[in-house]
Amino acid sequence: MKITYYGHSTLLIELNGKNILVDPFISGNPLASEVDIDAIKCDYIFITHGHQDHVLDVERIASNNPDALLVSNYEIVSWFQEKGIKGHPLNHGGKYNFDFGTAKYVNAVHSSVLPDGSYGGNPGGFVLWHENECIYIAGDTALTRDMELIPMTCPKVKVAVLPIGDNFTMGYKDASIASDFIKCNSVIGCHYDSFPPITIDKSVAVAHFISRGKDLTLLEVGESKEV
Ligand code: NI
Ligand code: MN
Repeated sequence: MKITYYGHSTLLIELNGKNILVDPFISGNPLASEVDIDAIKCDYIFITHGHQDHVLDVERIASNNPDALLVSNYEIVSWFQEKGIKGHPLNHGGKYNFDFGTAKYVNAVHSSVLPDGSYGGNPGGFVLWHENECIYIAGDTALTRDMELIPMTCPKVKVAVLPIGDNFTMGYKDASIASDFIKCNSVIGCHYDSFPPITIDKSVAVAHFISRGKDLTLLEVGESKEV
């Protein structure tokens, strides 16, 4: 499994030969100005919730990748279907077998509304797996005990992508507790530094994880990690 970080919460995950783009927010993020958004190739677009900083570039990427399937909750998939983007709706606790493997939509504690004010359903995260490759993408969320359900109901998480920027989501200390709940010590941080209220001291966050015997990877924009 290969994970490429495009800034904020945008990831490209290569799993079982398929490319899964998560929460595309590139054109609105000055930290991602070097990313060639039109060069991104994907088979799927996964959306955790409806906020602008997670859906901004969906239409552009979908028009560049006309065969890509949008996967999100029912409300978000329906909203994009009206714009001509095909999708597969999930709802919380449900999983489905796609051609790359399985995706489960799991709880997040946050809010969700689409950019035009439409109801975005409840926000979520995803657990994606194929054989022993398993990744948890938390989406925007507070620390929640619901995360303890993940190791009870999904394969062992190999790497977790957790928000660490605080203010709108959990901060890095709560994220280190989340990694206890999901029984995964390998974390990739997201949702930090993109806006002033979520600017963090990265070295302090990394040191906190090390002090708890855990690994926090903070990828550069455009950097990939093989896990
Ligand atoms: Ni949000
Ligand atoms: Mn957000």
